[in-house]
Amino acid sequence: MGNDAIRITDARTDAQYELPLFKGAVRAMELRKIKTGPDDFGMMTYDPAFLNTASCQSAITFIDGDRGILRYRGYPIEQLAQHCTYLEVAYLLLNGELPTAAELKEWVGAVTYHTMIHETTKKFLEGFRYDAHPMAMFVSTVAALATVYPDARNVLDGNVRALQIQRLIGKVPTIAAYCYRHSLGYPYVYPDNDLAYTENFMNMLWRMMERRYQVNPVLARALDVLFILHADHEQNCSTNVMRAVGSSQADPFLSTAASAAALSGPLHGGANEEVLKMLDEIGSKQNIPAYIEKVKSGQCKLMGFGHRVYKNFDPRASIIKWTAEQVFEVVGRNPKLDIALELERIALEDEYFIKRKLYPNVDFYSGIIYQAMGFKPEMFTVLFAIPRTVGWLAQWQEMITDPEQKIARPRQIYVGHEARDVVPMSKRTSGALIPSD
Ligand code: COA
Repeated sequence: MGNDAIRITDARTDAQYELPLFKGAVRAMELRKIKTGPDDFGMMTYDPAFLNTASCQSAITFIDGDRGILRYRGYPIEQLAQHCTYLEVAYLLLNGELPTAAELKEWVGAVTYHTMIHETTKKFLEGFRYDAHPMAMFVSTVAALATVYPDARNVLDGNVRALQIQRLIGKVPTIAAYCYRHSLGYPYVYPDNDLAYTENFMNMLWRMMERRYQVNPVLARALDVLFILHADHEQNCSTNVMRAVGSSQADPFLSTAASAAALSGPLHGGANEEVLKMLDEIGSKQNIPAYIEKVKSGQCKLMGFGHRVYKNFDPRASIIKWTAEQVFEVVGRNPKLDIALELERIALEDEYFIKRKLYPNVDFYSGIIYQAMGFKPEMFTVLFAIPRTVGWLAQWQEMITDPEQKIARPRQIYVGHEARDVVPMSKRTSGALIPSD
């Protein structure tokens, strides 16, 4: 047997199987060869929450969770954050290489061309209640784009895909800004295509009566860096949704909306909002030890801590800490930073967190920066969704063009009743298990 196969002995039958390895992994379909007899379906794997299952081959993002490494298309995240703009990185994620000056100019022009949203989409947004959560508005409005661009359904045409990608990347900041202004009751500000991507976003968020919005370059750059850090993160929950929904050949607006819905959960992109709520609840440094005890006794989680993949440190968290300093020099220090730093210090010395390899993740500090810049916590996940749209689209495109991919359809282990007959209503007894907490 070479190094590219494993030998398995089935303890039930004593039969031996030699299963070839594919890039160091066993193809799950190979396991079906393991049977107890001709009528046996064959062996499956059981992996709730995909703890140990590769669902695709991908050339986009590399993470080494033990060593705290994150690379897009081979480039370390630290170098990209230092030297590139967000749209440069978006081009890289989608096309595999950093753009030349001419390629970047064309790409920025294409994205900028699509910053406006249809007036009917604007009216759609106006229909939300004044207190609607911005993330729910964002998800719904991205889905509503599918009503404006029916051509997007032709997902197998590369030119059609390229156009929808430009549309989505161009429009998500506009939708996000309109959600924000809607929740404040302010009139919407149309895009200013003379401004760069994040500058225009700030213009749509914060311009009031002035003729031209004056962008603070430090804050615009900080936002650009935050967008770079959030652009992709390989097969996370929302990206898995993008691939799963996209695998049915649903159009990219609907698939992106589904991914954004997955991002909204507090265990995923919603965590940064939860971090701020948690810091508010803690209130002051002296309350931290009591809060840590609550976490350790399982009453709550330390939001912004822990990661499925990073078990050493999250490299994005270090860059965010540095970015926070730049922002605070402009807008003043967010007092919550002191509570967060102390919380981090105490947690990192505590046996509970050390043993479970729980470190601050990207969400621990991002919310503090966003709040210092003037955003309400409800907007934080929307700010995450804007750049992650690029990652979703890059992964979607890779999935569609991968000849091995088919409609995503996992198996299950059925644990319900055997076949039984329907009893007339008059003879039924109440015994239904209604889930509750
Ligand atoms: N606070 C306290 N304990 C935590 C924790 C946290 N933030 N995250 C994980 N743990 C504990 C779990 O309770 C578990 O303890 P146990 O072994 O005693 O049961 C152990 O650490 C392993 O956690 P598990 O839930 O199996 O990890 P996971 O890989 O399934 O979950 C997260 C990863 C990110 C969902 C999880 O760490 C979490 O909920 N973090 C807070 C939310 C967050 O910040 N999300 C943003 C991610 S970028």
